[in-house]
Amino acid sequence: MKKVYIETYGCQMNVNDTEVIFSILAKDGYVRTETMEEADLIMANTCSIRDNAEQRIWGRIELFNQVRRRREGTVVGIVGCMAERLKDRLLDTHKVDLVVGPDAYRSLPRLLKAITPDSPQIDVLLSRDETYADISPVRTDRNGVSAFISIMRGCNNVCSYCVVPYTRGAERSRDPHSIVREACDVFRQGYREVTLLGQNVDSYLWKSEEETVDFAELLRRVASVDPRLRVRFATSHPKDISDAVIETMAAHDNICKHIHLPVQSGSSRMLEKMRRKYDREWYLERVARIRSVIPECGLTTDVIAGFSSETEEDHAGTLSLMEEVGFDWAFMFAYSERPGTLAARKYPDDVPPEVKNRRLNEIIALQNRKSLERYRHQVGRRLTVLVEGPSKRDPDQLCGRASNNMMCVFPGGGHGTGEYVDVLVRDCTSATLICDLA
Ligand code: 5AD
Ligand code: SF4
Repeated sequence: MKKVYIETYGCQMNVNDTEVIFSILAKDGYVRTETMEEADLIMANTCSIRDNAEQRIWGRIELFNQVRRRREGTVVGIVGCMAERLKDRLLDTHKVDLVVGPDAYRSLPRLLKAITPDSPQIDVLLSRDETYADISPVRTDRNGVSAFISIMRGCNNVCSYCVVPYTRGAERSRDPHSIVREACDVFRQGYREVTLLGQNVDSYLWKSEEETVDFAELLRRVASVDPRLRVRFATSHPKDISDAVIETMAAHDNICKHIHLPVQSGSSRMLEKMRRKYDREWYLERVARIRSVIPECGLTTDVIAGFSSETEEDHAGTLSLMEEVGFDWAFMFAYSERPGTLAARKYPDDVPPEVKNRRLNEIIALQNRKSLERYRHQVGRRLTVLVEGPSKRDPDQLCGRASNNMMCVFPGGGHGTGEYVDVLVRDCTSATLICDLA
């Protein structure tokens, strides 16, 4: 039996891809290990979204090579987005034996057999139809409660700053029957929550001779698997999120009331340059619509500070939008120019680093204040939480998320992982609700 060790970086889609890779390699006789030193195959499933994500991987490659020098025959593999972006350039370092892009994981067994010290292997072909629909991912989460199901791959939105369309290829949707089957399987295995994953779930579309299934219909089908199975999804796109999706969420108790809706900027001029295909007003209208149909809906976002030519006025637009919407939480980044993107070709990365960082810090400070406000707003409320397990800080307490995606901690009281528990919110921080059993 050969042993494989994989480190996963980047988004939830990568976490799910690692599970697909484990499944493919298990059929080829590999067992999983969590100890790099004993592995025959050491891999990193990588991310290229910002330069610092890639810099981190270069550090890991050095470390993998220390193990490779100590144990002759150990194979070092780079898979995922950075493999797709850098291709042969990774092999040229002589520190990597295997380079495989996100659509080529089925060729891993063949490539592994062909590797010799003098012939590293590479497959970075992108596909128009690969969705790994027939592969049951080996779940790597530890709680056994919440599973990722990928519903589509790739991306057709060419946001000017973003490398993803180049690393993950064109968008394709997965057969809805295989998605529902996977949801049934994980439910039977004891999972109580699925997160449907796609770069832009709102553009999910399956067409066959018998049927056309859009994202609203897919959500309805997955929600109908069992009322005890909660459904989440990510990521939504403000230009595509439809009234039908919002209404489907409202109509099913087991579809979680949380939308991750990346805004990127509050300035319409920046949004245009980012090629987001919506403006500030459109975004605010979508938020108003969500809140009128689902008043208690959790809303989170992504924000980029210091995109090309961003002025103080553009930046003030981002701050005022964040003030107005009041997100529960946000992922906030300084703009990082990515080679090959439209922005890298057309728009100079001309906001000085210290200005970017100052703006980013202002964005973070505002969001911290807003998060605390949003969490405080929940104090006194009664919420239903799906127990994920003991709290990390205090093992006598349990933790789990409410429908709106807020993390809750509460006394155990004989409850266990995978149960639904009603709690009363007593207090909070800007990232956790502190609760009593209701
Ligand atoms: N620089 C900074 N942040 C980026 N993101 C995507 N590309 C870049 C980039 N070049 C952010 C966006 C996206 C999130 C996943 O990462 O906010 O929504
Ligand atoms: Fe990173 Fe984007 Fe690739 Fe996910 S899709 S791993 S976030 S570059």
